Amino acid sequence: METIKTSDYQALQVYLRDACGILLRDSGLDLARRRLRPVLDNHQLASIEALLERLDRPGRSGLKEAVIDAITVSESRWFSEASVFSMLGDQVLPDIARRNAGKRVAIWSAACSTGQESYSIAMAASEFREQNPGNLGGVRVLATDTSRSALEVARRAHYELGPEDTNITSRRKERFFRSIEKGGWRISPEIRALVEFRELNLLQRTLPGKFDVVICQNALVYYSAEKRKAILTRFHATLNSGGYLIAGSSELAGEVPDLYEPIECHKGTAYRKR
Ligand SMILES: C[S@@+](CC[C@H](N)C(=O)[O-])C[C@H]1O[C@@H](n2cnc3c(N)ncnc32)[C@H](O)[C@@H]1O
Repeated sequence: METIKTSDYQALQVYLRDACGILLRDSGLDLARRRLRPVLDNHQLASIEALLERLDRPGRSGLKEAVIDAITVSESRWFSEASVFSMLGDQVLPDIARRNAGKRVAIWSAACSTGQESYSIAMAASEFREQNPGNLGGVRVLATDTSRSALEVARRAHYELGPEDTNITSRRKERFFRSIEKGGWRISPEIRALVEFRELNLLQRTLPGKFDVVICQNALVYYSAEKRKAILTRFHATLNSGGYLIAGSSELAGEVPDLYEPIECHKGTAYRKR
């Protein structure tokens, strides 16, 4: 697939918008070509036209998930974004601990990719518990994504840490990581025990349980306003009374349903279930 015909690219845009709610920019043709190349190879398809034809056929080939996977890049970083972790530690956990003293806090890391976000949440909540003994009875993080390959990396819990990972201070490294002889770092058993990874597509209606906090970053940004609203409504249904949604700064595009009350925090806006 050296080039994509403009008409095929337009058909791909329509398919992704209508079937998946994903918005592909007019300027994204080259990017789409690069990202879809391995999908075409794996499914032995010669062109975008052949891909669209196969997507239209009934049956579950995993092709649709592979296309979503390719277009919505998998990448996660430690304690990123800073505002999200500040809202969690400075506003949301203290409020939940006040209202549910001694109870375990349940957090959903929605669209968790390779796990850095989810483990960071477990570490942040553990730090909060250490600094505020007796306030929270425990921590449970459910981390979900559609990407099987990303979930495999997350479950392996084995990472390289470089100079760019400045949020992993030497204190955190000592507490939450174990050095591996052949290179790299593994998440400590105590933190791994707090996080469960599960495959889940946010576009489906399945709700994974009840939570005090939902954290979602860098995933809704790919979707149409209509799909984003549907996902935010499902998040609302999973939240316990008074629970919070925390989203990345680019995630909501200013369109948050009235179901949530905006709570201005020092470094951003969290959304409390009404
Ligand atoms: C850029 S990563 C963000 C990872 C993490 N939230 C973070 O910010 O560190 C985007 C993730 O969203 C996931 N994703 C995209 N659409 C999804 C959907 N419909 N359901 C579940 N996960 C989805 C992708 O598989 C990818 O792993």
